[in-house]
Amino acid sequence: MTYIFAHRGAAGTHPENTMAAFEEALKAGADGIELDVQLTKDGEPVVIHDETVDRTTDGSGWVKDILYRELRKFNAAAKWDGRYGHCPIPHLEEVLAWLAPTRLLVNIELKNSLVAYERLEQKVIAVVRRYGLENRTIFSSFNHNSMRLCRQLAPEIETALLYMEPLYDPWTYVQAMNAGGVHPYHRTVTADFAADARRRGVAVRPFTVNKPKTAKTMFAYKVDAIFTDYPRQAKEWKEKT
Ligand code: G3P
Ligand code: CA
Repeated sequence: MTYIFAHRGAAGTHPENTMAAFEEALKAGADGIELDVQLTKDGEPVVIHDETVDRTTDGSGWVKDILYRELRKFNAAAKWDGRYGHCPIPHLEEVLAWLAPTRLLVNIELKNSLVAYERLEQKVIAVVRRYGLENRTIFSSFNHNSMRLCRQLAPEIETALLYMEPLYDPWTYVQAMNAGGVHPYHRTVTADFAADARRRGVAVRPFTVNKPKTAKTMFAYKVDAIFTDYPRQAKEWKEKT
């Protein structure tokens, strides 16, 4: 069964990485949500995709240079014509406190490729453990060393390797990184790759699958999950498969 993960919440229809988007994902019947995490100047884990707040909010500057209390003033729905009111950038704690009583899984992407956030792994692990979500969480990152560190610090939480280009000797590499899964760019996934992964017990969750044709191909390959900006539509595509 292929799970549907709502990418940055339901980013196709709602302001990405906001509580409004995550609530929509739940209502749409997604199996899980995907979110991105970075640290503010004062070390608070916040849910935002870009290293700067410029694209998604009415503020400007690098997340790493902004104090949490200042960052909360920005509106992460500012680019949506007032339709969603004021949506602050969520604290990771806020999202996981909301998610814990639901049935949702969560993929927390550590956004630590361009900025080296000090103790990001330790902080994120602490929040997941605080809400007892170890079995419903998957960590992922394009920074594979960070995933290896997460696995060392929290062996009970699954890690997955994000990548755009196909990996060289993927199964040896996945084993060396002690990862439970791979999160590849969907165009790199073939039927053989998906079948091989399944035989080896490695989860495959391609991103970002926004077209019905691609989704149907991924369902046919029996990948473990897809990430999509359109969880409501993806549910329908899946039911029609
Ligand atoms: O987890 C898949 C996807 O979120 C990775 O790309 O840039 O949307 O964070 P990006
Ligand atoms: Ca992401």
